[in-house]
Order: sequence, then structure tokens, then C-alpha cells
Amino acid sequence: MTETHTEVPTLYPPPAEFAANANATEELYAEAEADRLAFWAEQANRLAWQTPFSEVLDWSDRPFAKWFVGGKLNVAYNCVDRHVEAGNGDRVAIHWEGEPVGDARTITYAELKDEVCRAANALTQLGLVAGDRVAIYMPMVPEAIVAMLACARLGVMHSVVFAGFSASALRARVEDAAAKMVITTDGQYRRGQAVSLKAGVDDALAGLDDSPVEHVVVVRRTSIDVPWTEGRDVWWDQVVPAAPAEHTPEAFDSEHPLFLLYTSGTTGKPKGIMHTSGGYLTQASYTHHYVFDLKPESDVYWCTADIGWVTGHTYIVYGPLSNGATQVVYEGTPASPTEHRHFEVIEKYGVSIYYTAPTLVRTFMKWGREIAFAHDLSSLRLLGSVGEPINPEAWRWYRLVFGNDRTPIVDTWWQTETGAAMISPLPGVTSCKPGSAMRPLPGISAKIVDDDGNELAPSPDHGEHVTGYLVLDKPWPSMLRGIWGDPERFTETYWSRFAEQGWYFAGDGARYGSDGEIWVLGRIDDVMNISGHRISTAEVESALVGHSGVAEAAVVGASDDHTGQAICAFVILKAHHADMSHEQMVDELRAEVSREISPIAKPREIHVVPELPKTRSGKIMRRLLRDVAEGRELGDTSTLVDPGVFEAIRASK
Ligand code: PRX
Repeated sequence: MTETHTEVPTLYPPPAEFAANANATEELYAEAEADRLAFWAEQANRLAWQTPFSEVLDWSDRPFAKWFVGGKLNVAYNCVDRHVEAGNGDRVAIHWEGEPVGDARTITYAELKDEVCRAANALTQLGLVAGDRVAIYMPMVPEAIVAMLACARLGVMHSVVFAGFSASALRARVEDAAAKMVITTDGQYRRGQAVSLKAGVDDALAGLDDSPVEHVVVVRRTSIDVPWTEGRDVWWDQVVPAAPAEHTPEAFDSEHPLFLLYTSGTTGKPKGIMHTSGGYLTQASYTHHYVFDLKPESDVYWCTADIGWVTGHTYIVYGPLSNGATQVVYEGTPASPTEHRHFEVIEKYGVSIYYTAPTLVRTFMKWGREIAFAHDLSSLRLLGSVGEPINPEAWRWYRLVFGNDRTPIVDTWWQTETGAAMISPLPGVTSCKPGSAMRPLPGISAKIVDDDGNELAPSPDHGEHVTGYLVLDKPWPSMLRGIWGDPERFTETYWSRFAEQGWYFAGDGARYGSDGEIWVLGRIDDVMNISGHRISTAEVESALVGHSGVAEAAVVGASDDHTGQAICAFVILKAHHADMSHEQMVDELRAEVSREISPIAKPREIHVVPELPKTRSGKIMRRLLRDVAEGRELGDTSTLVDPGVFEAIRASK
């Protein structure tokens, strides 16, 4: 693989004042290098263990790792109780900002502890026991975080399903995990409108032949009317406030499962990524402390992700709370009610650390810097980016407009599967090149290799450079422990590409820069990254062919200035739909995808074509469709059955 890169990298060294007070130091790398396992043992001791672990890592049953073997802990105790016991009960844990202006709540650690205990007691009364699965389908309300922590406290696995996902997406996840309970809200605010959510749960469950769900617990948020099934459905406010605020946390094994989080793979069926307790919490806490330079006494931290994604799990719930942080949690969209909202929130709470996605930075760029400049953003001292490569232009804009050209930016590379940040600058230590995630964090090992597993050499910053596969060549504490119910798929998906070497293949392409720093270039499999959301081509294709008018569909991700990638679909219609206009059909198909998956999966373009380019073995040549979608010269077409098919496709574009 070769490509031309013309960006001139500039080095941004850490400001001296920041460096002088930074949590991280250069020695951290040396320490981890000298004795990796001892280093991780030290990080694990950031947590409170009821029973200390006897071994740091057991890697004998690869690729199934065990970290902190023999140790026992309670994750929720680590996230709330211990801060109260340390005398910090009055510290604000969550400044919650609702979407409707003026709708705000402040929750201290002492209050959070009481609420988590009440919820844990209520969930126990409703029949949950350790090992059960609970689906959480909620907007960004404090109860969503309470529900996650209550599950963690009981050793119950949560499976958070993004509230923007459709009923059928929820149904598939409830079914796969055989969830015993769904926790939801009556409705949610979307750009000022209250829309129903509980009704979607009912739809999801009605579609199951044999529903595993015994109870649906409903938090009142919008007071919208809800359908109700007596005996199954329960109001949160009728069971939680009445439950006792005392609850003794049970210590669970370090490898006790903590949560499932479904993510897109290269097939139509989402994978239930499984994370466990001790290793996950260790790396969440460690990375949150060093990568975000968190000073729990003085910082106000804000991660703009949704709890439906892994970023919300690790950097809203488990990382910050295990570290006793004070954070902002915002319910709504950035433009509610105006484009000033994020800046108003930063100003209102004095946010000092702000962590968001490149796509949002590009949205702010589009809105214009005047909006940011109308606000006092001087409280910001560190910025973060996650979810997709950040283009150098957006990086520089972010630093200039949000950070007054003085704040470090941490570009954190990681995945649902890695559980926590893996490659990132350390603020106060690393000199950054805009657009590069720089190097693996202390304790983490990554390599960029060619097809045969040979490590690539650094590329010059200008001209041609070689790209390769990003692999993780040593196990790490927050690594996924498997795919729910499908150990073979786990081995096949992540560990077969470099089976001989025993490396984890992340699915991303990358290259080394001139100083050996890592530039992640994006997915090289059939997974798309739309505004930082992971969607597989197969999922969208299966939604499209689910429509009675579609005979065949092929989907590709084409680069998009705003969303990173955008979905382009090519469909062949069945003959009997010929009477409907193509425009009508395309509208219908977009709506179908939105209904089946989520509005975020709606294709930017749908082209009705007479044929799809296929190899002799019947495989759709997505590479060529990508060329078409991006308006490029076609690559090698020699393996196609009928190279002429492109004339027809081009004609229909
Ligand atoms: O392609 C990489 C991209 O997002 C993928 C992981 O997506 P997901 O599991 O949804 O987790 C997103 C939040 C951690 C990766 O395989 N990605 C994530 N962060 C970066 C990135 N690409 C480049 N730079 C990043 N900082």
C-alpha cells in the first residue's frame, strides 16, 4: 500500500507550565519498559481490592487473558463508596445539564452512592442476580449512570444500547444476550422535542418469540405517554427511592464479567464485546489519570460522548468516577437550542478538560469561530479527541479556538475491544504532531507491520510512504475477553490474521512518521466510521435488502469532509418496483435503514444501478465501488466478470 502525503507536520511541544505540573513524566515509559507486569501491578493498586491478586497476568489460554488473577473487588465500590469513605462525599461527581435550558442537577459522590445503593437494592428485589444481563436503553440522564453502576455493584452485566438505535437493533441485542431486564426512559429530548423511547422497547420485545425479559424499568424523563404491560413494567420512581440506601457491595473475581457492548463487525450481526472487572477498571483509571492529567480536586472534566458507546463507558463512567473526578454530563445535542450550547456549558461549569470527536470539531469549524469567541473559554487546559483520525487542520483549529493556542491535545486511539486508550500523547510529556496519536501509552505495545508481520520503517513526512497493519503485540489489562456466545468468532476476527505471532489485529491501517510516531489511517476492513460511529457495510446492506423492492445492495464508506466517511449504497431493484420513481424509492430506502439500524446509518447517497461489479467467485468489489463513490480513476478491474458494468454505474450516478 502506498500513498502520497503532503501535510507539513509541525511539532507542538508541551507548554513548560503544564509539564511542570503534569501527572505523567517521561520516566513512566522507562518504568513500564523495565518491568511491564510490575508496572501494571502498580497501576492496579490505584484501585481498592478486597482480596489482593496473586498473579498479574495469566496468558496461558491465549487469546483469553486473565489479569490480576485471584484478586477480588467491587467496581461500583471503587467508583463511589471509596471516595465517600475518603472524606470526599461532598465533592460533585456529576454536573448534569439537561437539554432543556435550566434543567440541571448537581450530584455529589455521597448522593451518587446512596442512589446506586438504592438502585442495587431495587434491582435485587426485581430478581437480578450476579451473572444476569441487563439492557440499558437510555438517553444521557443521571439514572443511566446509576443503572450501570448498580449493575456493576451486583455483578450483573450491563449491555448499554445507544438510545438512537432502532427497536430492531435493541431486539437483536436483548435476544443475543438473553437480557432479563431492560432499563429505559419514557421518552427522550431530541433537539427540543420530547420523543418516545419506551414505545420502542415494547416494539423490540413484541418481536421476540420467547422474550427473556422479566421486567422493564422505566425512568420518567419527559412525561410522554407510554404503553404499559402490567406485571412486567415498573416505574423507576416507584421502586428506587423507596429502597434502602445501604447496600453491602460484594467483591467479585477480577475476571468477573462487567459488561457487554455490541459493536459492528464485518458481518451483519453485531458482536457482543465482553469486558471484565479488574483489568478493565485498572486501565480505565490509569489512562484517565495520565492521559487527561486529571486533578480531581480542581478539574472539571467533560467527555461529550454518549454512554451508548465505549467512550461513554470508559471516560464518563468508569475512568472518571474511579478517579473521583468532577464531570459535566450533558443530555442534548450541540445545537440545542443554539450553536452556543457547548461553549455556554464550558463557561457555566468552568470546564478544564474537554474530550470530543473530530467530527464535532469539524462541525464547530463549519459554524465559525465567532461562536466560540463569544465565550470565556479560559478554564480549558486540556483537549482530547477520539473516534477517528483528526485531520491536522481540525487539530490546529481545535487548539487555536478552544485552547487559545496553548492547550495540549490528546489524540487517543483505541476501540470498543481495547476497552481503554492505547495510543495517545501524554500531556506535559509528548511533543505532538497534529493528526498523529503519537505512541503507545506506557505499558502498551503496538507495531505497524506488513503482510508478513515485518515491522515497517519510519516514513518520511513528505512524499511516498508505506502503510501497514496496526497490531497490538502484547496483551493489555482492559482487552476484550471475548465475543458473547461466540469464542470462535473472537479468535477468527482478532487473532487469526497474525496467528503465528500471536498478535491482535485491530482492523486499522497505519504508518510510522519520521520520528517513529504512529499515524492511524482508518479501517481497512468492511467497517465504516461515520462521525466516529462504527457501522459495518454488511449491516446496511442487510437493511437495504430487507426492503421488498431491493434485489441486491452493496455499501461502501466514501471519504467525507465533514463526517470522515459517508455511506454510499448501490442497489439493484426488483423488476416489479420499476413503476415507482427512483427518487421515491431512494427516500423509502433511506427511511428503511434509519428504522432498521439508526438515523446515523442513513446512506448519504443511494444509487440505483443495473448491476454490481463482481469477481468470478461472486464477491462484490467494494474497492472499485469506493473509487466510483469518490470519483476516482478506477483501480484494477481485471478480475471482474464484466468490466463494462462501470459504464452503467457511472451513468446512473
Ligand atoms: O478505526 C479506529 C477509529 O475507531 C475505531 C474504533 O471504533 P469504536 O470501537 O467505535 O471505538 C471508538 C472510540 C474509542 C478504530 O478501529 N479510531 C478511534 N480512535 C481513533 C481512531 N482512528 C484514528 N485516531 C483515533 N484517535
